[in-house]
Amino acid sequence: MHDQEEAFDVRAVHRLIRGRRTVKPPQYSGRIIDRSIISEILENANWAPTHGLSQPWRFKVFTGAGLQRLSRGLPALYAAVIPKEEQQSEKLEKLASTPLKASHAILLAVQPGLSPKIPEVEDVEALACAVQNMQLTARAYGIGSFWSTGRQTYDARACVYLGLEEGLQYLGVLYLGYPKHFFPPGAREPLAERVEWIDTDG
Ligand SMILES: Cc1cc2nc3c(=O)[nH]c(=O)nc-3n(C[C@H](O)[C@H](O)[C@H](O)COP(=O)(O)O)c2cc1C
Repeated sequence: MHDQEEAFDVRAVHRLIRGRRTVKPPQYSGRIIDRSIISEILENANWAPTHGLSQPWRFKVFTGAGLQRLSRGLPALYAAVIPKEEQQSEKLEKLASTPLKASHAILLAVQPGLSPKIPEVEDVEALACAVQNMQLTARAYGIGSFWSTGRQTYDARACVYLGLEEGLQYLGVLYLGYPKHFFPPGAREPLAERVEWIDTDG
């Protein structure tokens, strides 16, 4: 076995990946995550793969009183984007209350088109890789996470309501907090239905 292979506990990696669960802010304990841990979570995001090393992700980290801004911005965005007759008051209330139940909320965005040779969809793909790194790192620290999106997320006006620099593409919020109780069990359909192996030359 090579040195590099020995450096990782593969069973621990399996447990981490399969044991990561979405845990939403109403299930958080209220305990605040240390800034040093948030920094490690962000550092691991920055190590996600990117085509041409474009690192298109841009994050805004809200915590403490900063969460109030998100609690105002998210419902304001929803109210501006969703047609009046389709708006739900419970949804507005939830968008306002959810950030205040989290220890930290990370606004997720990409700067699209950094390289003209790379299709813009790959910026979004890279951001998703970065979010996965954050969710796994959070889980390793015993922290729950929730990637939250909605119809209003993909509207160009999001930058205005959420204080993002113009030109950035907003892709949702990653909420973080220690679970009050436990990580819930997960469920997945069988893998076999989603994989085809090709091992003959036909
Ligand atoms: C891009 C993306 C957006 C998501 N947006 C939402 C959302 O708006 N609301 C929600 O309840 N869950 C959202 N989720 C989380 C999924 O519901 C969750 O990952 C799924 O139920 C599987 O559960 P698990 O994460 O615990 O394995 C999102 C996940 C991804 C990857």
